[in-house]
Amino acid sequence: MAASHPPHSSIPTASVTEARTALLKRAARDAMDYLESVNTRPMAPTAKAVAALAALRGPLPPGPTSPETVLHLLHEYGSPATMAKTSGRFFGFVTGDCLPAALAASWLVSAWDQNAAHHAQSPVAAQLEETALDWVRQLFGLPEGTGGALVTGATMANFSGLAAARHALLTRAGWDVEADGLFGAPPITVVVGEEVHQSVIKAFGMLGLGRNRIVRVPVDGQGRMRADALPHLDAQTILCIQAGNVNTGAFDPAAAICPAARAAGAWIHVDGAFGLWAAASPEYSRWTKGFEQADSWATDGHKWPNIGYDCGIVLVRDPKILRATMSIQAPYLVHAEERDPSNYNPELSRRARGVELWAGLRSLGRSGMAGIVERTSSHARRFAAGLKAAGYEILNEVVINQVLVSFGAPEKTLRAIARLQAEGTCWCGSTVWQGHTAMRISVSSWATTNEDVDRSLAAMLKAAEE
Ligand SMILES: Cc1ncc(COP(=O)(O)O)c(C=O)c1O
Repeated sequence: MAASHPPHSSIPTASVTEARTALLKRAARDAMDYLESVNTRPMAPTAKAVAALAALRGPLPPGPTSPETVLHLLHEYGSPATMAKTSGRFFGFVTGDCLPAALAASWLVSAWDQNAAHHAQSPVAAQLEETALDWVRQLFGLPEGTGGALVTGATMANFSGLAAARHALLTRAGWDVEADGLFGAPPITVVVGEEVHQSVIKAFGMLGLGRNRIVRVPVDGQGRMRADALPHLDAQTILCIQAGNVNTGAFDPAAAICPAARAAGAWIHVDGAFGLWAAASPEYSRWTKGFEQADSWATDGHKWPNIGYDCGIVLVRDPKILRATMSIQAPYLVHAEERDPSNYNPELSRRARGVELWAGLRSLGRSGMAGIVERTSSHARRFAAGLKAAGYEILNEVVINQVLVSFGAPEKTLRAIARLQAEGTCWCGSTVWQGHTAMRISVSSWATTNEDVDRSLAAMLKAAEE
C-alpha cells in the first residue's frame, strides 16, 4: 500500500488499484507456492507449526496493519498449520480436494464479491446456482422440476430438506408451522436407520422435532436399514434413508423401501452427502437405484465432486414446498421475476458458491464425475486388497470409496493410526464400527493416484507393525 494513501480509502485511485493488483499477484504466488509444496510435507502440521500460530493470536492491534504484512503473516504461519488435504494422500473424514476449475472460480468469486441473496443483487450468482442445481439433479437422475438450494454443507442440506418435510406434513394436517410454530401442532413421526448420520439427528433437534423422539430401524452388518423391519408409516411420517454410510459407504435398499413408503404418504428424505454421486457412474449407479423416488435429497459438493469448501446441496421434488418454508419478504428487498436464492435456503446474505459448483461440474462433465467415483472406488479396493493380503481384517464390503480396517485389538489399531498420523505419508482417522475399533480410509480426492495408494499402503503396513 502506497504510504501517501490511507489504507482503507473507498476511492480506488490509480495507485490504490496498483497496490491491490500487486497484493493479489502476491497472494496468487503464495497460493501456488503452497499447492506446489504441500505434497512434500507431512499431511498433518507439525506440533511446532501449530504452536507458531501464537503469532496470529493476541489482542486486536490498535491501528492498521498493511495488507502485505497481513498476507505475509497468513502464509508464514497459517500455511504450515493446515492439513494437507489437497495432496492426494489425505483419507480422513470424507474430504475431497478442490478441482482446479472450482479453485480458480473461487478466486474470481472473491474478486466479484457478490451477494447471492437475490437475482437483483447478482444475476450471475443466481443463474449459475440454478443451472448447477439442475446439473446435480440430472446427474442424480431425479425428476424434472426438482429444485433446491445451495447451503454450507450436508448438515444444513439435511436441515433444509427436513424443514420442507415438516412444512409439507403439517400443512397436510391443517397446521401452518412457519406461522404458528410447533406448540400444539399435530404430531409427526420421524423414522431413521440405526446408522443414521448425526447431522440428521442434529437437524431434527434444530427443527424442534427432538433428537430423542426418533424411531430407529434396525440395520444389517453394513449399516443398511432393514426393509423388513420398518415400522408403520403414514402421511404424518418423515422417513430418512441414507445413500452412503460415512463408515462403510453402504446404501439403504431404497428400491425395496420407497414404493411402500410413498404409497403410505410418508415424506422420504435422503441423506446422500457423498453416496448419491455414485449415480453419475454407469458402473456404480446400481447403488442409487430407488433413491429417485424420494421427496428431498441432501448432498455435498465439497465431498466426492471436489468442489472445495463449502458447498452443500438440498434438492426437493416440489420446490414450491421449499420456497414456502424458506421465503423471506421485506419492502427493501428487491424481488425479480427470476428465482431468488434467499427464498429457498435458510440464509439471506451469502457467498456465490453456486459459481464454484458450476465451474467444477462444467470442467468435469458427466464422464469426469463418473471418473472420480470410479477411480476413488478402485483405489479403495486396492487399499483393501493390500491390507487383507498382509493379514488385516477389512470390516466392510468395499462398495464405493470407504474402507474400514482393523489391525487387531482396539489398542493396537489406535496405536497404528497414531503412528501413521505422526509419520505423515498419509492421514487416516479412527472410528468404532458396530463395536469394532477401526481405521477409516476414505478416498475422496480427484488427485489420488495409484502411486499415492501404494506409498500410503506401505506406510500403513509399517505403522501396523509392532
Ligand atoms: C452421510 C453423511 N451425512 C451428512 C454429513 C455431514 O456433512 P457436512 O459435514 O458437509 O455438513 C456427512 C459428513 O461426512 C456424511 O457422511
